[in-house]
Amino acid sequence: AARSPRPALLALLWALLPGPGGAQTSVHPKEVIIPRGGSVLVNCSTSCDQYTLLGLETHLDKKEVASGSNWQMYELSSVQGDTTPFCYSVCHNRQSEATMSLTVYWFPERVELEPLPQWQPVGENLTLRCQVEGGAPRTNLSVLLLQGEKLLSRQPAKGTPVAEVTDTVLARRGDHGTNFSCRTELDLRSQGLGLFQNSSVPRQLRTFVLPQVRPHLVTPGIMEVGTQRSVTCSLDGLFPASEAQVHLALEDQRLKPTIKYSEDSLSATALVEVAPRDEGVQQLTCAVTLGNQSQRTRESVTIYSFPAPNLTLSESEVPEGTVVSMECKAHAGAVVTLSGDPAEPPFPSAQIMLNATAEYNGRDFVCSAALEVAGHVLHKNKTQKLFVLYGPRLDKENCPENWTLEENTLQTLRCQASGNPIPKLDCLRKGDGALLPIGEPRPVTRDISGTYVCQATSRRGVATREVVVNVIYQQSNLVTIIAVAALILGIAATVGTVAYLYNRQRKIRKYRLQKAQEAAAMKLNSP
Ligand SMILES: *[C@@H]1O[C@H](CO)[C@@H](O)[C@H](O)[C@H]1NC(C)=O
Ligand SMILES: *[C@@H]1O[C@H](CO)[C@@H](O)[C@H](O)[C@H]1NC(C)=O
Ligand SMILES: *[C@@H]1O[C@H](CO)[C@@H](O)[C@H](O)[C@H]1NC(C)=O
Ligand SMILES: *[C@@H]1O[C@H](CO)[C@@H](O)[C@H](O)[C@H]1NC(C)=O
Ligand SMILES: *[C@@H]1O[C@H](CO)[C@@H](O)[C@H](O)[C@H]1NC(C)=O
Ligand SMILES: *[C@@H]1O[C@H](CO)[C@@H](O)[C@H](O)[C@H]1NC(C)=O
Ligand SMILES: *[C@@H]1O[C@H](CO)[C@@H](O)[C@H](O)[C@H]1NC(C)=O
Ligand SMILES: *[C@@H]1O[C@H](CO)[C@@H](O)[C@H](O)[C@H]1NC(C)=O
Ligand SMILES: *[C@@H]1O[C@H](CO)[C@@H](O)[C@H](O)[C@H]1NC(C)=O
Ligand SMILES: *[C@@H]1O[C@H](CO)[C@@H](O)[C@H](O)[C@H]1NC(C)=O
Repeated sequence: AARSPRPALLALLWALLPGPGGAQTSVHPKEVIIPRGGSVLVNCSTSCDQYTLLGLETHLDKKEVASGSNWQMYELSSVQGDTTPFCYSVCHNRQSEATMSLTVYWFPERVELEPLPQWQPVGENLTLRCQVEGGAPRTNLSVLLLQGEKLLSRQPAKGTPVAEVTDTVLARRGDHGTNFSCRTELDLRSQGLGLFQNSSVPRQLRTFVLPQVRPHLVTPGIMEVGTQRSVTCSLDGLFPASEAQVHLALEDQRLKPTIKYSEDSLSATALVEVAPRDEGVQQLTCAVTLGNQSQRTRESVTIYSFPAPNLTLSESEVPEGTVVSMECKAHAGAVVTLSGDPAEPPFPSAQIMLNATAEYNGRDFVCSAALEVAGHVLHKNKTQKLFVLYGPRLDKENCPENWTLEENTLQTLRCQASGNPIPKLDCLRKGDGALLPIGEPRPVTRDISGTYVCQATSRRGVATREVVVNVIYQQSNLVTIIAVAALILGIAATVGTVAYLYNRQRKIRKYRLQKAQEAAAMKLNSP
C-alpha cells in the first residue's frame, strides 16, 4: 500500500523538477539480509545543505534512533519479509530517493520425508517425497534426498508455502535396512553468513523378495483318526528369509510349526493330530507371508477311522474234537479275510467252524480287514490263538522204538511225548525198573541195554511205548589175555598135577623096588 502511489508521485516530481543534477539522497546499507523478525539500522542521508525534507518510506515499523545535520538513522524492527524501503529528500523543491533491498532469511520449520511403505518389493520403484515448510530465501534453499549419507538428488525448494521434492529409486536387496532422509541447505555463504542445514527424521526401508511360486507342502495324504503325523511346508528364494512368517492350518485349526530358516529359504514342520471329529476330507493350508505379500498352498488330507476287526472264538481252549466257531467282523466300510481264506468273497464279516484237532493247538488265526481310503488299500489284522487239549501221544517220530548204540560213544537219547498239557514222561527198564537217561548227552555204557517201557502221563490220560536199547561192544583184549592166561594156567596146573602123580607113582614103584631088592639081598645074604 505504501509503494503503490510511488510511480505516480515520481512522475509528478520529475515533472516538477527543473532538470537532472543537484542534491542526491543516499541510503546505507543498500543491501542487507537479516533473520526474520530481526531489526536493522538504516541511515538516510542527503548531499543537500538546505534540504526541506528527509525521510524513510516503508511499511515497516520504524523508529528514528539518531540524526545529524544531513542524515537520519532509523531502526526497522520485526521484519517479516523481503522489502525495499527507500530514503527520500527534497532539496530546492526537488525530490530524490534511494532504495535499499532488505532480505529476510529463515530456516525451514518442517523438513519431513513422507513415510516409506512398510515393506518395499525388490525391483519396484520407490517414490521418495520430501516436504519442506517455510524457509527463505527460497532462491538459496535446496532440498537434498539422501540414502544414508549418499546424495540421491538435489533440487531447489519450489512451491509455497510447502515445497515438495520427489525422487524415484529402484528398490534392491542391498537397500534393506538402510535409512532415507531429506535435508535442506540454506546457502547464504555469498552473503557472508554460511550454510545452514536442516534434516528430516530418517526413515528405514525394508525391502523383500517373495517369489511368485506356491510353497511346497508335504502331507501324508491320508491320516488315521487318533494318530499324529508331521507336515512340512517350505519355500525357497526368500529375502530376507528370517522375516518371513508361516501360517499352517488344518481347516481352521492352527498348527504350531517349528520353523527352520536358512539363508534364503524356510522350512516349517508341524505335528498334526487328528481327532474323530476331523474325519473326512480336510484342507491343509500353508501360507508364507513376507512384506505385505503372501503365497499359499492347499492340500487335501483324507482323515479316516479304521479300528482293527473283532475276531471272536467261541472258546480259546477246547478239548480235541470240539467244534470251534470263529467270527471276524470289520468296522463299517471294511472287508475281511479270515485266516488267509482267499476263497471268501470280500464281506464285512466272515465265519468259520472247525473241528479242533491236535494240529490246531497253538495255531494263530488271523482276521485281516482291508479298507480303501483315497486310493490306498489299508490293512488291519487281529490275531487269536487256539489251544486244543489232547494227548498224551508217544509216536515213532518223537520216540523211536529201537536204539542201537555203540558203547563209549556220546549219545543223546530222545523220546518225547506230545500233548496239551505237556505230559510227564518216564522210561523204566523191564525187570529192574532202571531209568533210561533221556535228553542229555552222555557216554553209552553197556549196562543201559534192555527193554524199557516209556509212559507219558497228563491229566488227559496215559500213553505207553516199549523201546529197546542195544549196546554193541567189541571183546576186550584184557579178557582175551585173562582167558589165555587162564588157559595157560589151566594147562600148567594139569601138567603139574600129571607130573606129580607120575613122580609119586614112580617113587612108590622105586620104593617098592628097593624094598624088593633089599628083600632079595637079604635073601642072598642069608645062608
Ligand atoms: C550516516 O551517513 C552519513 C553520510 O554518509 C554520515 O556522515 C553519518 O556519520 C552516518 N551516521 C551514522 C550513525 O553512521
Ligand atoms: C504391498 O505394498 C506395495 C507398496 O506399498 C503396494 O503397492 C501393494 O499394493 C501392496 N500389496 C498388497 C498385496 O497389499
Ligand atoms: C522405475 O522408474 C524409472 C524412471 O524413474 C523407469 O525408467 C523404470 O522403468 C521404472 N521401473 C519400474 C520397475 O517401474
Ligand atoms: C543466493 O541468492 C542470491 C540472491 O538471489 C544469489 O545471488 C546467490 O547466488 C544465491 N546463492 C546461492 C548459493 O544460490
Ligand atoms: C537407521 O536409523 C535408525 C534410527 O532411526 C538407526 O537405529 C539405525 O542404526 C540406522 N541404520 C543405518 C544403517 O544407519
Ligand atoms: C534448522 O537448522 C538451524 C541451524 O542450521 C537450527 O538453528 C534450527 O533450529 C533448525 N530448525 C529446525 C526446525 O530444526
Ligand atoms: C473231529 O475229527 C475227529 C478226527 O478227525 C473225528 O473223530 C471227530 O468225529 C470229529 N468231530 C466232529 C464233531 O466232527
Ligand atoms: C468290536 O468290539 C468292541 C467291544 O468289544 C465293540 O465296541 C465294537 O463295536 C466291535 N466292533 C465291531 C465292528 O463289531
Ligand atoms: C495283515 O494281513 C495281510 C494279509 O492277511 C497282510 O498282507 C498284512 O501285511 C498284514 N498286516 C499287518 C500289519 O500285519
Ligand atoms: C532193532 O534194531 C536191530 C538192529 O538194527 C534189529 O536187528 C532189530 O530187528 C530191531 N528190532 C526191532 C523190534 O525193530
